[in-house]
Amino acid sequence: MCGIFGYAGPDARPEILIEGIKRLEYRGYDSWGLCLAAENHLTLLRRVGRIGGVDASALAVGRDGSARSGIAHTRWATHGAPTEVNAHPHVDCSGRIAIIHNGIIENHAELRAELEAAGHSLTSATDTEVMAHLVEQGMADGASLTAATRAMLRRVRGAFSIAVVSADEPDTIVAARRSTPLVLGLHDGMALLASDIPALIGHTRRVFALADDEVAVLTPGALAVTTLDGDPVEPEQLTITWDLEAAQKGGFEDYMSKEMHEQPQAVADTLLDRRGPGGELILDEMRLSADDLRRIDKVFIVACGSSYHAALVAKYAIEHWVKVPTEVDIASEFRYRDPVLNERTLCVGVSQSGETLDTSEAMREAARLGAKVLVVSNVVDSSMARAADGVLYTRAGPEIGVASTKCHLAQIVALEVLGLYLAQILGTQPATEINEILNAMEVLPGLVTTALARAGDVDDVAAKLTDARDFFFLGRHVGYPVALEGALKLKELAYLRAEGYPAGELKHGPIALIEPGTVVVGIATRNPLWEKVLSNVAEVRSRGATVVLVADDGDEESAAAADHVLWVPPTYPLLSPVVGVVPLQQLAYRLARLHGHDPDRPRNLAKTVTVE
Ligand code: F6R
Repeated sequence: MCGIFGYAGPDARPEILIEGIKRLEYRGYDSWGLCLAAENHLTLLRRVGRIGGVDASALAVGRDGSARSGIAHTRWATHGAPTEVNAHPHVDCSGRIAIIHNGIIENHAELRAELEAAGHSLTSATDTEVMAHLVEQGMADGASLTAATRAMLRRVRGAFSIAVVSADEPDTIVAARRSTPLVLGLHDGMALLASDIPALIGHTRRVFALADDEVAVLTPGALAVTTLDGDPVEPEQLTITWDLEAAQKGGFEDYMSKEMHEQPQAVADTLLDRRGPGGELILDEMRLSADDLRRIDKVFIVACGSSYHAALVAKYAIEHWVKVPTEVDIASEFRYRDPVLNERTLCVGVSQSGETLDTSEAMREAARLGAKVLVVSNVVDSSMARAADGVLYTRAGPEIGVASTKCHLAQIVALEVLGLYLAQILGTQPATEINEILNAMEVLPGLVTTALARAGDVDDVAAKLTDARDFFFLGRHVGYPVALEGALKLKELAYLRAEGYPAGELKHGPIALIEPGTVVVGIATRNPLWEKVLSNVAEVRSRGATVVLVADDGDEESAAAADHVLWVPPTYPLLSPVVGVVPLQQLAYRLARLHGHDPDRPRNLAKTVTVE
């Protein structure tokens, strides 16, 4: 989720670059940097923290007016801590080639080893830097910047948008993308590029889309786009009617909608780079050795809110795959209840922000009791990540809407990857089974996309429920945490009374509350207890409740048990929460809107809760 900006033209000065990346600040970042390219030299500036305080006119960098192009970047750390040395742009050994990058290079480790063996000296911990050195190799063999960048792109695997400059061709910026966004702009005597449209608005409305595996060469006032093989392509011109604020939300009405639509990417990115050549899981980033993990005889997962619901899903998965007792607890309870753990316990703290006080204190307590502490966080180098023995990052990018959406999905995926990794190390599942589940995980982004595309159907159901005031969300097995998450979303966004319950527990008390007008949302995606969910739902329907079911595509048996159906594409039962929660997010969102509430700023809530 880094921000990228590039400018080729007569005004290549720090001001223009800083203005460009400031317009991308809304994406979130932890460090930033820029590079100006002049004949025979590059000038680089990299900083940790906010751009806010920087007075571009006071920067010594690139002030002599000799620069002809420049690139700038805001970094949201993935590989390597948010330090100056890891900030972009990254340069080659000679300091004559600089690159900025958004995305993840999956084969960076093998490329780094190859480059180091060939005598290159890499200074950062990033996956990006290998690309600068690969371009260096190509140019050393006589290739132009464009040809060397093309050759480099053939070597890298993963998702990226990049921009490269060289002191040998200071009029030129070479840009490319695969899976992550990049747009191009053209105006009198200048050519521009950016990861997002807001950085271009203000300069030009002549904006062009770059497609996957296309390469753009930008020179002052000109753009040439080709395929990776060099065949010319006419880039698609976009019609920009957005103002700046709308552009920052990617054209969506609010951040929550934008972030829900980023969920397929969040899931895909969280899965990227996790498998070795034989398909086996490699979680080097985690810092816990296989020997550490072999000693584990109990897992505790501790979290708050939506993160807690992701943890509950993981309990089902870990106990099924790994056969290790797994307890899940709410962080604010865990730390005060004398939990029983020791050096053979793996305590996993799950926190989008990595700063939630209840969870970080719970982790401190777990460490004090001798447990190995692993943190699942979306923020690289968050306080919790720094304090833990190991860390597994979700890669959802910054989440701005207060209600967690894309981070929640990414957390489920990361925790299930952890479960499969434990199964691999402890030998509790055959490699073929692990491989099959990982393959099913890799198609989840497509299934989430399909579920998202049905927002109109959810809106229709929501419109019929605008007068409802009482909601029950029921599920069993992994449908139970989905029910809890659906109820939480409805409470916090639409301010409606919503209870999440294990469906089988309803008859032990809460069924007394069911009356005509109560809405019961059942999670009826296929899992081992699916039929029992239908029986539980029949009990409430016969008492006058309006029943909405989340059901697998084509499941007529479920449809017959419901007043309204929210269809989702089927997947493995243990993976189904990743897809099943999507229509519930949309339902809460739509009901919030219908009741006139701003989904980005629910009342009384903060994005990061750093108080007890
Ligand atoms: C709900 C929500 C909260 C957070 C909770 C934990 O939509 O966002 O319930 O999940 O406050 O926050 P993190 O994950 O940052 O520890």
